[in-house]
Amino acid sequence: MSEQHLLHEVDGNVAIIRINRPKVLNALSLPLMKDLATMMKQYDSDDNIHVILLSGSERAWAAGADIGDMATASSDEMRKRNQFAIWEQIKAIKKPIVAAVSGFALGGGCELMMHCDIIIASENALFGQPEINLGIIPGAGGTQRFTRAVGKATAMDVVLSGRFLSAKEALSYGLISRIVPKEHWFESALEVAAQVATKGPIALRAAKASILNSQELPLSQALSEERALFYELFSTNDQTEGMTAFAEKRKPNFTGT
Ligand code: CAA
Repeated sequence: MSEQHLLHEVDGNVAIIRINRPKVLNALSLPLMKDLATMMKQYDSDDNIHVILLSGSERAWAAGADIGDMATASSDEMRKRNQFAIWEQIKAIKKPIVAAVSGFALGGGCELMMHCDIIIASENALFGQPEINLGIIPGAGGTQRFTRAVGKATAMDVVLSGRFLSAKEALSYGLISRIVPKEHWFESALEVAAQVATKGPIALRAAKASILNSQELPLSQALSEERALFYELFSTNDQTEGMTAFAEKRKPNFTGT
């Protein structure tokens, strides 16, 4: 795997992946997306990793899919490329993904961000789906996940005009989880990831799966799935440990069993 467009390291139980194509504002090329999905799947099956932290640079989380990859492609070529199958692999990651976002999160970059679970954004971050300026529409969920996050009125405004949202607007519309000062945007996101990583890994996966069900399933089915997951957790050591630790007024020591 060519890894220079992605940097990665492990900090405790957190896997940190940084998108690293500074010359093109972290534009998401096809090889980068393939490697990102592969790397995320590896960390997803690594028991030592409880949370994945995905980051860009200070100037750009990612300014979209790589326009150079698509500029001369025909409809047939784009269909054959089937590039969004890679995105499905990222959607299938079971562990929580925290996004550390600074600068531009546009087009495919905004769509990748919406594949993450907790979005920590610098006060300087800018969000948008400006594909309309290129004569196309978002193709990796930008008309769907964005609309579910911000509602139809704002989605129409942003997608049809191509305008960018400030971090304050994005927070007020529910697109992101928190805004942090620009001086320590990355450290703040790492802190959140490390804190989440102290929780029981099985319960974390169940909580993520159940919340994501709310985006796809009818309410009655999602509630029934939630109940099934809730009952299942009562057969884990982590549930026994969590409740015993509470009674004994100490911090739980979750083992992921
Ligand atoms: N793909 C390829 N290259 C990109 C890029 C992208 N998405 N975004 C920026 N770049 C490149 C620029 O071409 C430029 O390269 P050169 O120095 O070789 O000219 C370099 O990054 C720096 O960019 P700018 O000089 O444009 O920087 P700026 O500060 O003036 O503007 C910006 C920043 C507003 C983000 C502007 O670069 C921009 O509008 N980028 C495109 C954003 C966009 O349209 N994203 C959607 C892509 S399509 C998509 O994502 C489809 C999908 O749903 C999957």
